Amino acid sequence: MRFSSSIALMGAATGAVAQNMSVCDKYTTALLKENNSTNQLTLLTLLVNTVVIGNYTQPNKNAVPGILAKGTYKGEEVNLLPYFDGTLMSSNRGGKSGVSINFLDDGGAAPLMMNMPSKTTTSNQYFLLTHLYQFFGKLLGCSTYGQMGFPAYTGHDMGSTHAFMDLDPSEFGYFVTQVGLAATSFGVSTEDVTAVATALQKLFGYRCSPPATVIPEMGPTLNSICQNDKCPLDPMALCSAYPNNGVVMEPMMANNTNMTMPSGTPTGPMMPGASSTMAGAPPQSTGAAMKESVGVGAVIGAVALALAL
Ligand code: HEM
Ligand SMILES: *[C@@H]1O[C@H](CO)[C@@H](O)[C@H](O)[C@H]1NC(C)=O
Ligand SMILES: *[C@@H]1O[C@H](CO)[C@@H](O)[C@H](O)[C@H]1NC(C)=O
Ligand SMILES: *[C@@H]1O[C@H](CO)[C@@H](O)[C@H](O)[C@H]1NC(C)=O
Ligand SMILES: *[C@@H]1O[C@H](CO)[C@@H](O)[C@H](O)[C@H]1NC(C)=O
Ligand SMILES: *[C@@H]1O[C@H](CO)[C@@H](O)[C@H](O)[C@H]1NC(C)=O
Ligand SMILES: *[C@@H]1O[C@H](CO)[C@@H](O)[C@H](O)[C@H]1NC(C)=O
Repeated sequence: MRFSSSIALMGAATGAVAQNMSVCDKYTTALLKENNSTNQLTLLTLLVNTVVIGNYTQPNKNAVPGILAKGTYKGEEVNLLPYFDGTLMSSNRGGKSGVSINFLDDGGAAPLMMNMPSKTTTSNQYFLLTHLYQFFGKLLGCSTYGQMGFPAYTGHDMGSTHAFMDLDPSEFGYFVTQVGLAATSFGVSTEDVTAVATALQKLFGYRCSPPATVIPEMGPTLNSICQNDKCPLDPMALCSAYPNNGVVMEPMMANNTNMTMPSGTPTGPMMPGASSTMAGAPPQSTGAAMKESVGVGAVIGAVALALAL
């Protein structure tokens, strides 16, 4: 047991604490020995790839189905694959409604199992996976975030990214559960996982959350990912900051079928879905009035925990 300090849940944590105590740095040291940018990015790659495709590394402490697998959350059936394989017109590329994009367009699960994001570096899959490494790297307080070897986040804000998905608490909860299972599978303690999940829920799991800074260089952003009307309303709700006052429509299926969530999905992770021609275009900004709020210190503080392996 290299680090044995007790859980350090510091609500008003500063960058200094993040650099010293972050989940990212400490688990990088525990699992990959040397605490440098290469290894920190590798840790995030292992974590995110496992979240996406399920556990693929050995040894591991538990199985992880992954977000592309059908599952249940508190008794509700969940199937997130249609958002990723182009089945649903749920991606934001700047229009008034969502478009269909296949994010499994560059090798699917195969490169992920080799600790890569994709086969090439120009695909939808490449940008999604690398953005996830970057974003979660910042959330987990990687000290080399933004330095050579660990690129800073180059994606969009969470509110507009997920604006046409109409994600509900079961879908959101299932995703967060997979993050927790993946972390646990690498030996992250239950307490640490709970703290991370709590931070994710607080930052992204309410609807109409007011602008807050998550990625410092982006400044305050709209962060609600759970936007369906079943999602709990943020205690500080500012629905007027979101398009259509925070009211979202269920995404339609591609090919003009107006069924919404299909109960059975026709494609698997390795199979291409519908078209993916708009990969490079930026999502529409939600252009909200920005207001100061939580700040990244609190994010990192909430997940800046001592290692208890
Ligand atoms: C804690 C919860 C979540 C976090 C932190 C998160 C984070 C992210 C990030 C960082 C991106 C990249 C955005 C970009 O490239 O600009 C992204 C994209 C995406 N997320 Fe999430 N996400 C979460 C939950 C979910 C859930 C529940 C779904 C359900 C299907 C989902 C579906 C997607 C899809 C389809 C994209 C690609 C969007 C696009 O490029 O248009 N996410 N997410
Ligand atoms: C990891 O390295 C960075 C500098 O590269 C340092 O700031 C940080 O404190 C180190 N973390 C641990 C846990 O050793
Ligand atoms: C940083 O970490 C070291 C070793 O875990 C610990 O002794 C020290 O008190 C920490 N400093 C702060 C400011 O938390
Ligand atoms: C980090 O350490 C590993 C060895 O564990 C090494 O292969 C890699 O080149 C190092 N990266 C940097 C940026 O120094
Ligand atoms: C996933 O983890 C479970 C439990 O440790 C294990 O039985 C299974 O073989 C793993 N799957 C893969 C593909 O590694
Ligand atoms: C239906 O999807 C196929 C690709 O899967 C695409 O070629 C075709 O144009 C789509 N049709 C409509 C009406 O969107
Ligand atoms: C959806 O399907 C219904 C019944 O088939 C049809 O009346 C309606 O016009 C469709 N709406 C769209 C947007 O395709």
